[in-house]
Amino acid sequence: MAEIVGAYFTSHVPAIGGAIARGDQGDPYWKPFFDGFPKVREWLNEVKPDVAITFSNDHGLNFFLDKMPTFAVGAAEQYTNADEGWGLPTYKPMQGFPELSWHIINNLVEDEFDPVSCQEMLVDHALSIPFELAWPDADAWPVRVVPIGINTVQHPLPSAKRCLALGRSVHKAVTSWQGNERIVVIGTGGLSHQLDGERAGFINKDYDAFCMDSLASDPDAMTRDSIHEIVRLAGTQGVEILNWIAARGALGPAAREIHRNYHIPISNTAAATMVLEAA
Ligand code: DHB
Ligand code: FE
Repeated sequence: MAEIVGAYFTSHVPAIGGAIARGDQGDPYWKPFFDGFPKVREWLNEVKPDVAITFSNDHGLNFFLDKMPTFAVGAAEQYTNADEGWGLPTYKPMQGFPELSWHIINNLVEDEFDPVSCQEMLVDHALSIPFELAWPDADAWPVRVVPIGINTVQHPLPSAKRCLALGRSVHKAVTSWQGNERIVVIGTGGLSHQLDGERAGFINKDYDAFCMDSLASDPDAMTRDSIHEIVRLAGTQGVEILNWIAARGALGPAAREIHRNYHIPISNTAAATMVLEAA
């Protein structure tokens, strides 16, 4: 039986890639953020996943405002890294797992979700940065990937309740998968941030604490707010918390928090990292 070993959540601020490239991890600006990662790496090293099911948002690379799927599931053999213009290094490609992707897509459709299946997909900083942070010295990524994209960019966005249900449906799909892989769920983005407009730089520690406190024990609490309320509470880009909510659903019913780090700000973002284990 395949096993979901736990879930790793992190912000995906592109500037982190610049700090890694310059070797700035020990710099006073960056240290409190990077200090959150030895524990993540130690845990990954213990649980040794060989597959990652990831929840993130595309930032205009595969999907622009003209065509915006609410939910997109990658079903490619390989995912090449590219970005929408942050000047980041190009990271190594990720290997896909099309059989598991199609199993998940089939199950989502049976559960009355309507995902777009993507046999070609690029991955941007929303995956490359979390992977670089988790496996900084890897010659090749140790996991095959099923990337799931959620629209957090072009309104109307799916509700938090819908995203949690999507994640739960992915969990259900894994329970009927016949392989014996060790699967880590990854949710990226957030926490509160707003990159543009009058509230640029907006951060909301209280809402972030509410999300981090709810994640393991009461993820349904995170579905209390409408999308417009989440934008008000978390910022226009802080709505990336939807990726965390879906990932939490995919982890399974009961979870235990084993690690958390929170630091303000990295760029314009309240940067957070968490690890949960299935309980
Ligand atoms: C920043 C944060 C993001 O989530 C993103 O996708 C791009 C930029 C930032 O804080 O700079
Ligand atoms: Fe983002």
